[in-house]
Amino acid sequence: MPNAVILLAAGQGTRMRSDLPKVLHPLAGAPLLHHALATAASLDPDRLIVVTGHGGAAVGEAALDFDPTIRLVEQAEQKGTAHAVLQAAPALEGFEGDVFVLFADTPLIRPETLERMRASRREGASAITVLGFHAAEPGAYGRLIRAPDGSLEAIVEAAEASPAQLAETLCNSGLMAADAGTLLDLLGAVRADNAKGEYYLTDVVALARARGLATAVIACGEAETLGVNSRADLAAAEAAFQARARAEAMANGVTLTAPETVFFAHDTHVGRDVTIAPNVVFGPGVTVETDARIEAFCHLEGCHVSAGAIVGPFARLRPGTEVGDGARVGNFVEVKNAVLASGAKANHLAYIGDTEVGERANVGAGTITCNYDGVSKHRTEIGPRAFIGSNTALVAPVRVGADAVVGAGSTITRDVAPGDLAVARARQEAKPGLGAKLMERLRAAKRKVSD
Ligand code: UD1
Ligand code: MG
Repeated sequence: MPNAVILLAAGQGTRMRSDLPKVLHPLAGAPLLHHALATAASLDPDRLIVVTGHGGAAVGEAALDFDPTIRLVEQAEQKGTAHAVLQAAPALEGFEGDVFVLFADTPLIRPETLERMRASRREGASAITVLGFHAAEPGAYGRLIRAPDGSLEAIVEAAEASPAQLAETLCNSGLMAADAGTLLDLLGAVRADNAKGEYYLTDVVALARARGLATAVIACGEAETLGVNSRADLAAAEAAFQARARAEAMANGVTLTAPETVFFAHDTHVGRDVTIAPNVVFGPGVTVETDARIEAFCHLEGCHVSAGAIVGPFARLRPGTEVGDGARVGNFVEVKNAVLASGAKANHLAYIGDTEVGERANVGAGTITCNYDGVSKHRTEIGPRAFIGSNTALVAPVRVGADAVVGAGSTITRDVAPGDLAVARARQEAKPGLGAKLMERLRAAKRKVSD
């Protein structure tokens, strides 16, 4: 059966108190909208429609960034969730099948849950299946009112609910699956005769029942249905995302010494038998391969760490970093847009930017690649097995050949040929006895001042 998804993203989100549209606020490094779109994509929909309104251009662009085949429709004025879904009617022209209505402010729904909704429509032959959850604090959520046989009779918004209805803890997640034709038909009959003067999508359930159509509810865990309406909700969603990501990592064979101190991005990939020590933060775009170790207090973003590599403690890997098999990046080392080939080492206090470090090369403590001349970036190449002495400045563009050695404290401005030794620092001079004499003179001067 073909299916379409309508994702509602037009709401104002006034309670966020933000210039950024609510659905573009980031969760685990990606906008809320992208989380909802990723869930929608799991249905492999024939049509994916996003309803934009408040902050429309930016929201539309973010949607097309995720998937350029998305159909955007505009809800010029936010008159409620039913009104928002109706704006998608032209984009559904000629479509027959299931429609899933998803909210862009509800980022944690699992693909398995949508699958269960799809199955519920099929098995129970329901015209509408609503996703519900038992809320610990039902608060402002709509309540799901059931008939004695367990089928869904109506959804009542909290503002309109009677005290008895407010006591119901089974709440509306906002998500529903329905037959496309039936849903559009019912939406035409929704009236804005309620406390907020809005067209409520939730009204379609009672309208369906009045027409003798079957309706159903399936429930999922509350962690999935969390809707973001405020910054506090956003923080709660982040916590829920991280809890899930940590549990999944451990279930996949990753050791997290202190799970509650590790923060993943929406797309972090971590292989089997990787160990992640406490206080590690992953930005977007990171893959860590099997058997690697990320030591404490590291920040990684847009990088690839190969099997058996050791990173940290206190390392920062920035976008474009590739750490080869068994390579090592130690404490207070920053790497950006650079490759460390297998077995290469940069163990202490270094900046390696726009650089290629060859196999088993050793970059000494305090080495800096001077990659920026104030206008442009330039590359540094360090050949296989080369040895860069401590406190070296490599002024790019520059190449150090295979097996070459650079003396400590050098400022390298010209290429070093393979196998050569380059020393680029002032020659040391010895002045016999002068050290002791100097000290005596300084002490005498001090005594004179204090007398
Ligand atoms: C809605 C439900 C409520 C449910 C809750 C779950 C209705 C009437 N109420 O309430 O039963 O418990 O979600 O989180 O459906 N939107 C538009 N256009 C509009 C209004 C909203 O696109 O005119 C979008 C918003 O961007 C958001 C979603 O619809 O993604 C839900 O709107 P919101 O205002 O957050 O509804 P709630 O009050 O949370
Ligand atoms: Mg909401």
